[in-house]
Amino acid sequence: MHEGYLLDQFTLKYVNHRTDEYGGSFENRYRFPVEIVQAIKNTCGRDFPVSLRYSVISKTKGFRRGALPGEDYVEAGRDMEESKKAAKYLQDAGYDMLNCDNGTYDAWYWAHPPIYMPENCNLEDVEELKKYVDIPVVCAGRLDARTAADAISEGRLDGAGFARPFLADQQWVTKLMEGKEEEIRPCILCHNGCFNMCHYKGVANDQALSDSLNLARCAVNAETMQWTKHFIKKTAKPKTIHIIGGGIGGMETARVLKLRGHDPVIYEKQDCLGGTFIPASAESYKGKLRDLLAWYRRQMEVLGIEVHLNTEIKEIEQFSGGEVVIATGAVPRTLRKVPGHEKMIEACDYLNGAPVGERVAVIGGGLTGSEIAYELALQGKKPIIVEMKDDLVSQPGVCLANSSYLREWFALHKVPVYLETTLEKVKDHAIVCHSRKRGQIEIECDSVISSAGYVPMPLVQKGKHVHLAGDCMKVGNLRTVIWRAYEVAMKI
Ligand SMILES: Cc1cc2nc3c(=O)[nH]c(=O)nc-3n(C[C@H](O)[C@H](O)[C@H](O)COP(=O)(O)OP(=O)(O)OC[C@H]3O[C@@H](n4cnc5c(N)ncnc54)[C@H](O)[C@@H]3O)c2cc1C
Ligand SMILES: Cc1cc2nc3c(=O)[nH]c(=O)nc-3n(C[C@H](O)[C@H](O)[C@H](O)COP(=O)(O)O)c2cc1C
Ligand code: SF4
Repeated sequence: MHEGYLLDQFTLKYVNHRTDEYGGSFENRYRFPVEIVQAIKNTCGRDFPVSLRYSVISKTKGFRRGALPGEDYVEAGRDMEESKKAAKYLQDAGYDMLNCDNGTYDAWYWAHPPIYMPENCNLEDVEELKKYVDIPVVCAGRLDARTAADAISEGRLDGAGFARPFLADQQWVTKLMEGKEEEIRPCILCHNGCFNMCHYKGVANDQALSDSLNLARCAVNAETMQWTKHFIKKTAKPKTIHIIGGGIGGMETARVLKLRGHDPVIYEKQDCLGGTFIPASAESYKGKLRDLLAWYRRQMEVLGIEVHLNTEIKEIEQFSGGEVVIATGAVPRTLRKVPGHEKMIEACDYLNGAPVGERVAVIGGGLTGSEIAYELALQGKKPIIVEMKDDLVSQPGVCLANSSYLREWFALHKVPVYLETTLEKVKDHAIVCHSRKRGQIEIECDSVISSAGYVPMPLVQKGKHVHLAGDCMKVGNLRTVIWRAYEVAMKI
């Protein structure tokens, strides 16, 4: 009875339209899960333990319409009143444990919380439900381990479930127990590696087949569920390897090379490591990304990797034919053909602290632009999103749990979204756009942020002993950057 899967398709009235003994009344809707536990117990014995994955509250307004945290809405699925009754009913039917969270596929961000969801988002409702049953009650979903442990020790909860922290770091719980929290490689709640079932207008799910076949891989840990493809093999011929660029790509390459026994050296033109991931992790809600950046920087220290900051490499001949990894990243795509484009603030510049006015037009409603608009709104600004395509975040690989949160948040908070709209001109206090439906329109704003994508910028493209890693090869995200960097480091 979880997140809208089969059992919920019977128990939830907004999707169960049956007129037989499995539809209509409470008893009819809950008949199927009751019959299941009875059949298990009849076959396996009364003492055979059966746990039920259980969504306490559906948090659903209707088909494809979730309810966001704090939203005032009418529940279409299971509300708390029905849930209390159902939990007791299921306990009496024979279930031995309820393994809980919230949500349905229409409100998927509760069961699979993206970074925008509050930490411990399901805990309060699960603790409430526990008061109405005698069997153990477990909670899962973006849990903070300390908070969960406190809830258990205070008797408000019986158990805590964790999934993604183990995908990012298999030693997660051991490191916690040993008080080595700073050694944990954190999950960044992206779903890019583990659960990137995406949906946008006109596309039900264009997840790549290799992803469907390999759920539970991890963007930030190239080894997870790729053990036979990505593994550390000690080198028989240790070498010095020059890595140009100290972003995540450069750091991951250096980390793996060092673990293999090589001697990597990073050259970074800025005064710190991190590259694009510094602005990429700057939004107020991206604490987990900042934790990952800190983890990478720490790994460089722990592993004793030689790093030269404030060192721009202009040509690689100085390395006299030695192995060189180019990890120089990408540069923003500028909309040069648009008159007034020089008035725009580039996305990373805004994230690095460039000031903006009150009403801010964000050009580009992909993931980066949408996240910036979300941040602007959280900071009390008035964002306006302008997107050429017919939907926001319409890019393969972004999990529906993540993208639907943003789309629904903008709708709830009445953030103006102009789809199928192209920027034509930037004026001092307005932008002129062409809307497919409305023709030419002028939108008033005080600042304009450009989020129109990035272009690879390798220092050199190829050469003997030259390897490319990260965005300088093909612009992507941490999944592509880290997996590629790992593979480059394995090959040398
Ligand atoms: C606004 C924004 C938000 C994003 N959000 C996310 C997200 O939430 N999740 C996610 O997975 N991905 C996100 N991404 C993508 C992700 O940040 C990048 O894919 C990743 O950081 C690229 O890493 P990289 O090492 O390939 O390149 P970079 O991080 O760009 O690193 C390149 C480094 O090389 C240095 N360099 C360049 N030339 C030289 C030279 N000649 N000599 C010495 N040093 C040089 C640069 O200073 C830089 O530090 C985001 C990107 C942006 C722009
Ligand atoms: C790759 C992946 C597969 C999952 N598969 C299931 C599943 O088959 N059944 C289920 O009840 N929950 C499944 N979940 C949900 C998790 O059990 C967990 O509730 C969710 O990831 C939130 O917890 P977390 O924040 O600790 O990851 C899956 C999660 C992930 C990331
Ligand atoms: S892919 Fe992203 S969400 Fe999934 S476990 Fe890895 S870091 Fe976490």
